Amino acid sequence: MPTQDPIIELKKLSFLYGKRTILNEIDLSLPQGSFTTIAGESGSGKSTLLYILGGFLRPASGEYFFQNRKVYRWWGEWGLGRFRKKNIGFLFQDFRLLPFLTVEQNIRFPSLFSGVRIEKDRLRQNMEKLGILHRAKAYPTAISGGEAQRTALARALLMAPPVLLLDEPTGNLDHETEKSIVSVLKTLQQEGLTLVCVSHSEYIMNKADRVLHLKDASFIGGDTTEKKQRPKKQRSET
Ligand SMILES: Nc1ncnc2c1ncn2[C@@H]1O[C@H](COP(=O)(O)OP(=O)(O)OP(=O)(O)O)[C@@H](O)[C@H]1O
Ligand SMILES: [Mg+2]
Repeated sequence: MPTQDPIIELKKLSFLYGKRTILNEIDLSLPQGSFTTIAGESGSGKSTLLYILGGFLRPASGEYFFQNRKVYRWWGEWGLGRFRKKNIGFLFQDFRLLPFLTVEQNIRFPSLFSGVRIEKDRLRQNMEKLGILHRAKAYPTAISGGEAQRTALARALLMAPPVLLLDEPTGNLDHETEKSIVSVLKTLQQEGLTLVCVSHSEYIMNKADRVLHLKDASFIGGDTTEKKQRPKKQRSET
């Protein structure tokens, strides 16, 4: 069950490309097991924020706490790599499947670097849940966009990370496929997974605990975690 302890906290975090401020002193607190959607115009910094949360991009100033530990302050590339492997599942907007590997080999790929053996049964169960088991032996050039997206999702979830970051996961999918992916995400959330999802889909926004809008390098109205979550808590208490 979700707890109210923040798994992720940003404090006055800023990021610049050259002299251009992309994120300006952002504060954010994400409880474990929460589902947050991030919206905003093209170029507003959504992917940049996701890369920072994923340990891929060092902020200019401010702090990123993950389970109360400072992520960027002391860690170099090696430490950040370890952090990513252990904690982060990342679904890239363009899938990034390796064309010379089959669906199953693509999904298994992250385990090659982790030294962790993945049970064949678990792998197949995940593929079945995502509706791609029947395409296990196919190559990325022979699968549909929706199947490629679900393959990338299975790969992001392979190492059972506590946090999953998704960049426009259903951008090019039909509504039925979108619904099936969101249903898998909601189940994982129930099991304690923390989700941050960049999306403009009304459907996803409605399924999320809250929606943050990035504009002019800040969240419009700030981080509204408290306000949005309080009614839910009251409901369960009555
Ligand atoms: N490596 C880079 N160097 C300089 N500027 C960059 C770099 N990467 C991104 N930008 C710029 O930073 C801004 C924020 O980019 P970002 O990719 O975070 O936007 P976004 O909100 O994800 O947009 P979209 O909805 O189009 O994906 C954009 O104006 C982009 O052109
Ligand atoms: Mg983007």
